[in-house]
Amino acid sequence: MNATPVAPNPNDPIIGEFRANNGKVGGVFDGVPLLLLTTAGRRTGRPHTTPVVHLRDGGRYLVFASNAGRPEHPDWYENLVAGSQVTIEVGTEEGRVRPFAARAVVLDGDERDHWYEHQCALNPAFRRYQEQTTRRIAVVALHPLDLSADAARARMIGEQLVRHHEELRAELRDVRARIGDLLAGGPGRTDPIPPADLTAQLRRHCLTFCYGLQMHHTRENGAFSAFEDEFPHLVPVVERLRAEHHVMEKALRDFEALLREGPSGDDVTRFRTELDRVVTGLEDHFAYEEANLLPAVGATPPQR
Ligand SMILES: [Fe+2]
Ligand SMILES: [Fe+2]
Repeated sequence: MNATPVAPNPNDPIIGEFRANNGKVGGVFDGVPLLLLTTAGRRTGRPHTTPVVHLRDGGRYLVFASNAGRPEHPDWYENLVAGSQVTIEVGTEEGRVRPFAARAVVLDGDERDHWYEHQCALNPAFRRYQEQTTRRIAVVALHPLDLSADAARARMIGEQLVRHHEELRAELRDVRARIGDLLAGGPGRTDPIPPADLTAQLRRHCLTFCYGLQMHHTRENGAFSAFEDEFPHLVPVVERLRAEHHVMEKALRDFEALLREGPSGDDVTRFRTELDRVVTGLEDHFAYEEANLLPAVGATPPQR
């Protein structure tokens, strides 16, 4: 876990324009089919969003890890090789950008070559990119989650949701215990770790929790679209859950900024107050989500 300051995403203006204009972006991207791809940072666990050129092939989206011909793969590609569950955002006929949970599959052999050549024919810049690098530019197929296609997979999505909630609950308990230790002057006051180091550790753990929750929400926002499409009676439930995510996201961003600035060792109570603000309502949110979404996919909400 890397707790060093995080630079603002240079793609933020494009991402903002994309979301505000149903996936259309002007300037150099005018007329270029783009989607927003969010992967989990392979080192930080932090959501990493980037605009990428895509090609539609039936229900799947094909993307190209060109990195404009640079010698190294783009970060998003390394991230999805480490974890194939991604979120995409695309413009729709309804006139608004929608997020979708998707599974990434790296193409190989003839299939990769066929689609890369197809993309070069559409956009010759991609031929130049391949000529500039010795690495073979990867082609990745993104398959959006479709809850109607596979009942077993739909149930698995429900079970995954419960598992992620349990992991986040455990991380939160851990962070709270560390705050307790710090306020008590170190675990049992016999721990040799100086409070300043303990604060640094706490910051790392808090960031792990923050990024974990942000990633969980990002993935859920994508999965919610599949729930809306397959179970129209759940639309009001999903609207409420999205609104709650939105409130928590803002609190998480503020908390993350506080962690990056870093309060001093004697300022730990502020960590605790701010963390409590972030997670206010989190348990209720988890419980409401489990109780309302799981039965639709044939999974059983946990008894509490
Ligand atoms: Fe949620
Ligand atoms: Fe959740």
